[in-house]
Amino acid sequence: MNREILFPTPIYFKMVKDPKKLNKYLFPHIKAWSKKDKSEKKTNAGGGWHSPTDMNFKKEYKPLTDELFAMQHEIFKDYGMQPRPGLGNMWANINYPGSYNKQHIHPNAQWSGVYYIKAPKKSGSIWVEDPRPGPNIILPRRVKGIPRALWRAVIYPAIEGQMMMFPAWVPHGVEMNESKEKGEKGWRVSVSFNFIQVAKNRQDVAGTHRNVKVTDFAVTLK
Ligand SMILES: [Fe+2]
Repeated sequence: MNREILFPTPIYFKMVKDPKKLNKYLFPHIKAWSKKDKSEKKTNAGGGWHSPTDMNFKKEYKPLTDELFAMQHEIFKDYGMQPRPGLGNMWANINYPGSYNKQHIHPNAQWSGVYYIKAPKKSGSIWVEDPRPGPNIILPRRVKGIPRALWRAVIYPAIEGQMMMFPAWVPHGVEMNESKEKGEKGWRVSVSFNFIQVAKNRQDVAGTHRNVKVTDFAVTLK
């Protein structure tokens, strides 16, 4: 018999050019920011710090946004999107030991993702789940060792220097940080973000499904 796999859920990964250098530069900035601004209350639980979501407008993080845009342009090519991506928002996360992120999706975005700055051992992996409602209604009993594409949930360890991007509608969460390291050696530090498709020459969002003014939803362009 023949088979097709339809409606795929792409999960993209890419290393930045010089992970050690970039992370050495980013970490002190984020650490200082976490001392200055109170945590937002979002998906972070167990005492983790979630920065304000305007990180994409802060000049000091340009070396990272450049890397994110480069990957997003590759995704646009691979996924057949045009004309170009806009970075809607971006924020830093510090998961101290004992903290985690509840399962969630990212409404009003097309591509979401994460970049890892610090990921000590046992500091928690991200998991993604089958986003389709149908297959989750009655879960079939199946043999062990089924192919990866048929799994219902997948756990990805955090890798320092790696960017990961996926459709914003993919349910995901982050396990609890169970690092035994003392002080900042035990921190799990990452940056999350949302991209959305924008028009070629205009500053506003031009998704085909909606029309939002720049005052409602500013985006960083590149
Ligand atoms: Fe998320």
